[in-house]
Amino acid sequence: MKGLILSGGTGSRLRPLTYSNAKQLIPVANKPILVRVIETIRDAGITDIGIVVGSTAKQIKDVVGTGSRWGVKVTYIEQDAPLGLAHAVKISQDFLGDDRFVMFLGDNVIEGGISPLIAQFANSKWNSQIVLTRIPDPRQYGVAELGDNGRIINLVEKPQNPPSDLALVGIYMFDANVFKAVNAIKPSWRGELEITDALKWLVQNNYDVHPYIHEGWWIDTGKREDMLEANDLVLEEIDYEIAGYIDRESQVGRRVTIERGAEIINSVVRGPSIIGENARIVNSYIGPYTSIAKDVIVENSEIEHSMVLENSKIIDIGTRIQDSLIGSHVEISRSPIKPKALKLSLADYSQVGIL
Ligand code: TTP
Repeated sequence: MKGLILSGGTGSRLRPLTYSNAKQLIPVANKPILVRVIETIRDAGITDIGIVVGSTAKQIKDVVGTGSRWGVKVTYIEQDAPLGLAHAVKISQDFLGDDRFVMFLGDNVIEGGISPLIAQFANSKWNSQIVLTRIPDPRQYGVAELGDNGRIINLVEKPQNPPSDLALVGIYMFDANVFKAVNAIKPSWRGELEITDALKWLVQNNYDVHPYIHEGWWIDTGKREDMLEANDLVLEEIDYEIAGYIDRESQVGRRVTIERGAEIINSVVRGPSIIGENARIVNSYIGPYTSIAKDVIVENSEIEHSMVLENSKIIDIGTRIQDSLIGSHVEISRSPIKPKALKLSLADYSQVGIL
């Protein structure tokens, strides 16, 4: 069995972060989402993985390389434009050949324990297996309708009147019959070849598409709030470890990871949270559900329920920073220069909330 990860797309809803970085490389609990996906596929025993890349191909290749760091072999598949998830499958046919495969969206984060499901598909005769989860308002998703016997009878993409609360999670398993489907369907109103339409084609042509209802959590990290929520959930799941330095004046909670080379000086760190490699936290408060990436400096400041990406500096901020997603190489500091005013240098599509 092979793996296919979709890491093209534009990530427009996460601007400005996605101007300089691929959405799939944003670290959740200090590990890129894409790396979490690679590890999940590898843990299911699959080592031959294709990654579909678009305009951020170079950044993704720089981080993932050949995949050998995670014990997998990665093949890159270039997608000229984000023409849809089914289009990504279509252009991957040479790589996939006749093998059964699992396809993951490279920006989705799912609760651990999904690997056995993938192994189960590998040994089954089903043509496809899809993962569904109950969502109170699934209008933004592909939605499945199940018959009385538990079999799929219909699928619709982003329906105005959803036929059920069962949304398609970004994990799909297929055999080679999927190529018949992606070659038969036409682009949707938004100009994309929809994977939901390919699945619908399989169902209508009597292929065996098996539904699996996932009971744990699952987050599609399209927007800032989703990213923070994914970070919250993963921070609750990780193994905590203190590898950095904590001075005697500091208080560090039980569910905290302090990575190698990080220093906590005269500060309070409450868990669940993570402080990245070589970060420095001085005279500060780091509250629950916070990820501080490597080489970040926080001095005389308070921050909670936030993500701060690498090499940023937060210095002498009198107001607590909360619910924030702060990119890399960002500086937030108090300015001594008069007049006393906010002095901002923000990228396009930045969002700032002021008291
Ligand atoms: P989306 O979140 O649907 O699209 P996007 O990444 O372009 O984001 P936005 O809507 O904010 O502009 O994509 C889901 C995943 O699939 C994501 O990891 C990108 C990937 N993808 C491709 O690889 N090729 C494609 O043609 C599309 C549409 C998405």
